Amino acid sequence: MNLNPNSIEAFDDGLYISEVGPWAENKYEILHHYSHMFSTGMKNLFNQRIYIDLFSSAGIANIRNSNRFVLTSSLIALNLPDPYDHYVYCDIDEKCISALSQRVERYFPGKKANYIKGDCNEKVNEILSFLPKPSKSNTVLTFCVVDPYNLGINFNTMRTLNKYRMDFLVLLSWMDANRNEYIYIKPEEKRIDDFLGDIEWRKKWIALKKENYDFRKFLAEEFVNRMMTLGYPDTAFKTMFEIRSTAKNLSLYHLAFFSKDQKGYKFWNDARFGGPSQTSFRFEE
Ligand SMILES: C[S@@+](CC[C@H](N)C(=O)[O-])C[C@H]1O[C@@H](n2cnc3c(N)ncnc32)[C@H](O)[C@@H]1O
Repeated sequence: MNLNPNSIEAFDDGLYISEVGPWAENKYEILHHYSHMFSTGMKNLFNQRIYIDLFSSAGIANIRNSNRFVLTSSLIALNLPDPYDHYVYCDIDEKCISALSQRVERYFPGKKANYIKGDCNEKVNEILSFLPKPSKSNTVLTFCVVDPYNLGINFNTMRTLNKYRMDFLVLLSWMDANRNEYIYIKPEEKRIDDFLGDIEWRKKWIALKKENYDFRKFLAEEFVNRMMTLGYPDTAFKTMFEIRSTAKNLSLYHLAFFSKDQKGYKFWNDARFGGPSQTSFRFEE
């Protein structure tokens, strides 16, 4: 069977397949739109366009309780009219990396790809070691997808990646934040410390909590503030895209896009408004 380059539709190919909720399709459609515009739009402007997927998964997922299959971020980025020049994939799970590498060989033979098995926060220097050195005669632009199940990206990882010219799509996962706020507030719990790259957030949050501030909004604002220290504009906050669960309409995550170039936001705005159903950032329940 062959993949259709204009679609995220996939099929059961016998290799390992993860399972996703129906709302994930919304995310994949937006990613598909974005990568399509980015990879084609930047083709003649940079010598090399690189794609990094820090939580790459296996490339194909089954929509829960259905017999439908979709491409996930790692293969969406390959199934394009003007694919990137080079791919770097990381996943902590051996069966994901193994299935993904076999799929890339099978459906996209000859594509330049590196696979790293491990925690992306620990492997970030290895990930960067695969990137070509940019120069005046070899311009490089990278798009990096950061899509964990929880708030599992460390700000330090973002800081390290920022040595290179890079646009980011970061998924801010709220199930983790909402459920575990009472745990993360404890000084010995490091999840948010690592996510924001400091331990000072607690003081600020304790004051805001008294005013019934939304924890998700607080974390989103704080994360964008940290990205601003790396030179990214606050546009990410104004252009976030919310994904809600299909059955209960619960806020699951926001997609936050970061670029140092306004053209990046032009592509991102086209992708999020061209995407299906939900249209804008909102934090109210
Ligand atoms: C939300 S899922 C996959 C997201 C994927 N981008 C997609 O499009 O479906 C997260 C993946 O991250 C992997 N993972 C979890 N923690 C990780 C870590 N610290 N570093 C790298 N991969 C990790 C899991 O094995 C899983 O495949």
